[in-house]
Amino acid sequence: MKVLTVVGARPQFIKAAPVSKALWEAGHHEYLVHTGQHYDYGMSQVFFDELGIPEPDANLAVGSGPHGWQTARMLEGIERRLLEERPDWVLVYGDTNSTLAGALAACKLHVPLGHIEAGLRSFNREMPEEHNRVLTDHCSDLLFCPTQTAVANLSREGISVGVHLVGDTMYDAVLQFAEVARRRSTILEDLGLAPKGYLLATVHRPLNTDNPVNLRSILSALEEIDEPVVFPVHPRTRQRIAELGDDVRASARHHVRMIEPLGYLDMLSLEQQARLILTDSGGMQKEAYFFGIPCITLRAETEWVETVDAGWNVLVGANKDEIVRCARVDTPPGSPPAAFGSGRASQEIVHELS
Ligand code: UD1
Ligand code: UDP
Repeated sequence: MKVLTVVGARPQFIKAAPVSKALWEAGHHEYLVHTGQHYDYGMSQVFFDELGIPEPDANLAVGSGPHGWQTARMLEGIERRLLEERPDWVLVYGDTNSTLAGALAACKLHVPLGHIEAGLRSFNREMPEEHNRVLTDHCSDLLFCPTQTAVANLSREGISVGVHLVGDTMYDAVLQFAEVARRRSTILEDLGLAPKGYLLATVHRPLNTDNPVNLRSILSALEEIDEPVVFPVHPRTRQRIAELGDDVRASARHHVRMIEPLGYLDMLSLEQQARLILTDSGGMQKEAYFFGIPCITLRAETEWVETVDAGWNVLVGANKDEIVRCARVDTPPGSPPAAFGSGRASQEIVHELS
């Protein structure tokens, strides 16, 4: 079996790593296409190095740009590779523009399409991810759902054929790499942090970064929290912070440790030892849950409702006072209940494709 995998953005390298491994272990041939949506070393190559992902067979080097332009360039490049490689399956991950381009290219050429992380919904059509995932789900042949909620979302849209509840490949990745991170990462010592003595924050959603009111509000909330905050800054966010007034940038620098984006192992290490995670990232909400770290989500809604229902995640949006108030919460008792599969989602996916 030959599988053409399309990845392009940071979380997709992490989601794809365990599936690549499972494909290889089962003796299948994977042809890896990197769209080039993310391209800085710290947003791309570091994940290939740390997670042992094979070098891409093709890098479309599309780069950054408006949605239509970016998606169109990807679509053109992926279509060409599909015509040359003639795979049995195309696999796409999550909800980025790379996902949608891979899905469109596959279904236009009638190549069977598998969507990993299918069925997620925020029900917020202002998010580019929501268009990407709805469209991708509706042209997929196999839909690999991480949660029961995702299966139910698809069912409400009339999709039940080809739907498989397999669990989350990000959970597979955490099980494979959390121990490696504990052994190899020195990030806590490097930053002079004590376990449970800091908060970890990330922000990159357009709703927060491209709206100066929300961005200012989040930054001043982080400033007001009376504990060290480690803030690895996504390049989109760094640009937007640079556009804010000097007062905000100076104040944020004073209290909050704004650092470059981290590699996966350092990130896993910081997550595991944080007292609390504040984020608008989908992946980090889940990782907080996997590690039993309370999470404050800087959004009004989430696709990962299980984390909220279980009491480990709270939706706060960008309101400064709410963020500061919620950041005082204690860790809930016990551990989060299992909700993201058995840690063998990747093997189950490969089994269904075979
Ligand atoms: C994209 C995804 C989002 C995902 C996120 C993961 C879409 C529509 N959005 O958002 O779903 O959660 O990736 O991180 O697909 N940039 C760099 N270097 C890079 C990459 C980006 O400087 O290596 C800067 C560019 O200025 C670019 C901006 O970041 O314009 C945004 O990048 P883009 O890939 O368009 O969107 P993300 O916000 O990263
Ligand atoms: N991540 C990382 N370094 C960082 C920020 C995030 O390794 O500086 C990892 C994080 O642990 C998670 C994934 O990237 O596995 C989440 O990606 P991101 O927040 O960019 O996108 P989202 O999950 O929101 O689509």
